Amino acid sequence: MFSKNLAVYQQRVERQLQQLLQGYPETEPQLLQAMSYSLLLGGKRIRPFIIYSCGSMLGASLSDLDGPAAAIEALHSYSLIHDDLPAMDNDDMRRGKPTCHKAFNEATAILAGDALQSMAFEILSQHPYQDVAAKDVVSMLQHLSKASGYSGMCGGQAIDIIQTNQPTTVAQLERMHRLKTGALIETTVRLAWHCSPKKDPAELASLLHYAAALGLAFQVQDDILDIESDSQTLGKPQGSDSKGNKATYPMLLGLAQAKEKAQQLYQDALNALAPLPYNTDELRQFAQYIVDRRF
Ligand code: IPE
Ligand code: IPE
Ligand code: MG
Ligand code: MG
Ligand code: MG
Repeated sequence: MFSKNLAVYQQRVERQLQQLLQGYPETEPQLLQAMSYSLLLGGKRIRPFIIYSCGSMLGASLSDLDGPAAAIEALHSYSLIHDDLPAMDNDDMRRGKPTCHKAFNEATAILAGDALQSMAFEILSQHPYQDVAAKDVVSMLQHLSKASGYSGMCGGQAIDIIQTNQPTTVAQLERMHRLKTGALIETTVRLAWHCSPKKDPAELASLLHYAAALGLAFQVQDDILDIESDSQTLGKPQGSDSKGNKATYPMLLGLAQAKEKAQQLYQDALNALAPLPYNTDELRQFAQYIVDRRF
C-alpha cells in the first residue's frame, strides 16, 4: 500500500506541476525550459507524499492537497538548483542529469530557482480550494514563507556555508540540519493540517514532533548516503560533502554512530504518532523508508 501510494502521489503532483508550467506564457522560452527541466525530470517527491498521506489521514481532500503539494515541490526544486550552484555546493549532477547551471548557464539557473520560488507562493495562494478557508490559506502562506526563508531553509543553508572548513559541534550541526532540511519537512504536516476539517492543536503537535524527527533523520541519511552510495544510484555526486569539507553527522560522529542516530530518530518519529486517533500505518512505513532508502 505504501509503495503504491508513493507512486500514485508522485504521479499526481507531477501532473499538477506539468499543467501549471504548460499554463505559463512563453515570456522567455529558455527560462521556462530550465524550470521544467529541474522541476519535472526526476525527484522522489517525498514532501508532496507527506502532504497527501498526512492530509488524507486527517480527512482533507486530495484535490485541496494538490495546492500545497505542488507548491512545496516547486520550492524544494528551487532550493536544489541554488544548492548546486558553483558558489554553493558546486555540483554537476542532480536527479540523474546535469545540474541546471550545467545544462543551461548560471544566470538561467539562478533565475529558474527564483521563478520556481515565486511559483510556489503563486500556486499556494491561487489553488482552487474547495474546503479550505481563506484564513487557512493565509496561514499556509505564512508558514511556507517562514520555513523557506531566513528562519528556515535559507538560514540553514547560510550556516552550512559558514561551517564549511570550520570546527563544528554536534549541537551546531543539528541546528543547521533542522533549519536547512527539517523546516520544510515540518511544514508539510502543517500544510496538510490546515487543509483538514478538524484542526485539533494536540494532533498538530504530535504531527510536528513526527515531522521534526523525520526531517532530521532524512538529512542524517542523506549525509550517510553521500559516503556509502554511488553517484548513479543517488543521481547526484557521491562524496560531495567530503569534497566540500562539509560538516555532517558521519564526519562528526563516525558512520556507525550516524546510523545509530538515524535509528533513534526513526523510533522518535514512531513514538510521536502513537497518540493519534487514526490509522498511522502509512506514515510509519514512510519513516522506515526514509532511514532505509538508498537514494
Ligand atoms: C535532497 O532532497 C536535498 C536535501 C534536503 C537533503 P531530496 O532527497 O528530497 O531530493 P529529490 O527531490 O528526491 O531529488
Ligand atoms: C540540503 O543539503 C540542501 C537543501 C536544503 C536544498 P545538501 O547539500 O546535502 O543536499 P544534496 O545532498 O546536495 O541533495
Ligand atoms: Mg548543500
Ligand atoms: Mg548539495
Ligand atoms: Mg547531501
